[in-house]
Amino acid sequence: MPKIEILDQQTIDKIAAGEVIERPSSVVKELVENAIDAKASAITVEIKEGGISFIRITDNGCGMEAEQVPLAFLRHSTSKIRNVEDLLTVSSLGFRGEALSSIAAVAQVELITKTVSDFSGVRYVIEGGKEKSSEEIGAPEGTTFLVRNLFYNTPARKKFLKTPQTEAGYIGDLVERLALSHPEISFKLIVNNQPKLHTSGNSNLKEVIYHIYGRDIAANLIEVQGENECFSIQGFIGKPLISRGNRNFENYFINGRYIKSGLIAKCIEEGYKSFVMQHKYPFTVLHISINGSLLDVNVHPTKMELRFSNGEEIYQFLTQLIREAINRNELVYQVSLEREQEEKARHKQEKKERMGSGRKAPEPFEAKRLQAVKQSIRKDSPYEPKYEKPAADFPQTEPVSQTEPALQEPSGQMAPELAAEEIMFGPSPHKTAAQPKPPAETKKQPPKLLEEASRKAHKIIGQLFDTYWLVEFDSQLYIIDQHAAHEKVLYERTLAALKQKEFTSQVIYPPILLTLNMQEESLLKKYMPYFQKLGYEIEHFGGKEYSVTAVPGNLFGLNGQELVIEILDSLADFHGRETPQMITEKIASMSCKAAVKGNQSISRPEVEALIGELLTLENPYHCPHGRPTIISMTKYELEKKFKRVL
Ligand SMILES: Nc1ncnc2c1ncn2[C@@H]1O[C@H](COP(=O)(O)OP(=O)(O)O)[C@@H](O)[C@H]1O
Ligand SMILES: [Mg+2]
Repeated sequence: MPKIEILDQQTIDKIAAGEVIERPSSVVKELVENAIDAKASAITVEIKEGGISFIRITDNGCGMEAEQVPLAFLRHSTSKIRNVEDLLTVSSLGFRGEALSSIAAVAQVELITKTVSDFSGVRYVIEGGKEKSSEEIGAPEGTTFLVRNLFYNTPARKKFLKTPQTEAGYIGDLVERLALSHPEISFKLIVNNQPKLHTSGNSNLKEVIYHIYGRDIAANLIEVQGENECFSIQGFIGKPLISRGNRNFENYFINGRYIKSGLIAKCIEEGYKSFVMQHKYPFTVLHISINGSLLDVNVHPTKMELRFSNGEEIYQFLTQLIREAINRNELVYQVSLEREQEEKARHKQEKKERMGSGRKAPEPFEAKRLQAVKQSIRKDSPYEPKYEKPAADFPQTEPVSQTEPALQEPSGQMAPELAAEEIMFGPSPHKTAAQPKPPAETKKQPPKLLEEASRKAHKIIGQLFDTYWLVEFDSQLYIIDQHAAHEKVLYERTLAALKQKEFTSQVIYPPILLTLNMQEESLLKKYMPYFQKLGYEIEHFGGKEYSVTAVPGNLFGLNGQELVIEILDSLADFHGRETPQMITEKIASMSCKAAVKGNQSISRPEVEALIGELLTLENPYHCPHGRPTIISMTKYELEKKFKRVL
């Protein structure tokens, strides 16, 4: 075995860099976070070849003093904390002092920076951890980092990079999240000389959301706001109808930091539970401020994880906040006949606009900077004013179309929060924090279909296709899916009975015989207590045979034979991390679904009773599987279809 020796500093740095800098987007993350910590109000990110060959980040923040620059590139050098106690109150995004040293260890870095009080700036070049040059230079206030040829000296790392397009995609996602996390900062992203994103920095979160996700999402947001002694939450959550197929749309920021947290994701999903279909995830942009002493931000070098000391409290609070916000809005699906196609076309157009094609590309900071440098040399009075927000470039000049029915709905529940001006120019979340608004309940809401007071005004028109009930109410046509509604009512009854422990079972004769395969048999054994709790009685009959002798009491019409096997099959998908409640709910919801299958025609009084029962439920608008129970169409939509209105 060779002798033990301590590694040289450059090798140490290269190895350590791997923890923080995994790919071009990590460089962008660290440098933009530094710019945010430097109190920049405008930050430009420019990349070429997915950031592999070129990244330039320009900010108008506080800059660095010339003599501090070499220190900044040392490992564990930081201006943000002094000792470990400071970690409790750290409000900056950085604090580990490893980013610059890590980046410089694995790339060719050039830095130009100037503080407000210095007369001139400094240009500093460092490659592979070795200082190459340092010189005085005229420069405007702020900092520009150029990072070239990432991993040029660590080919093993470089091999793991994906294609430039994929890497550029990661950077795009990241810059979008950074823009959402700091709506008070103007962000610009330029990819291969093409402007891709430009936010105004006017603090309006809804505007940033519109900019990034487009009109469909911006038009379907619910504002949330709440606080207690330990934390405050504000932001927007999407109505369930804009739910997505993965968790990428669950954005949340803790003290201005974009993180991933199983706990917060769980709070959000729990809040939405039964409002979204299985395997669908909500859209959210939530800003959460938590007292620093309740957090541990120093969990991982990338600072993407946090630990909470009061997780349970956050869980209760956030889940409740979200649930209440959703409940405040009557969540009947609005059917718009022409919407789908129109929206697709519009979407395309919007994307084009958002991406900047067809519009004058904003002047890069860098051009200003060079101009400033030139002027400073010529006039000997170096200082350009700070970067000005390019007001004319933001789509205030193209307000949401006046002819868009979905946004201009003359009646119906979408109106109050969907006024076009509000989407674009709604109250800044920061302003709202300063002057608390009255709670949303006090806003004038249109009457809801499912309210006791509305019942007298329901005009039940009749049944369609043996399944749907048509109800006229408040200039809208409501269509109730009898099966989904019935299923929902049964399900809620079942769960309520379970809670009260008054579940009854109903003996069936003759019993239902089941033949189970090995997997089904073992699942039945495993989940037997849950079946029993719900009122099932299932006995072993010998061999592979089982007999169902009783089923849950209030589930009349339940056909047990296929049902029990179906339930067992779906339990096979469970991976063992489900809570007892989830298991019970699964069995209950499947039982209820089976129970309503048989009942096709019901009478008018029965429908009235069904509506009566629906309106007592917390979330009557979705069946236990997340499908809508009621949809609606406005009179306006119909009139439009008949070309009575344009
Ligand atoms: N864009 C910037 N503007 C002003 N100062 C900066 C900038 N980037 C880095 N710095 C300075 O360099 C130091 C080291 O940065 P970094 O290695 O990212 O560590 P950290 O952010 O954890 O302090 C920072 O503490 C800060 O003082
Ligand atoms: Mg940093």
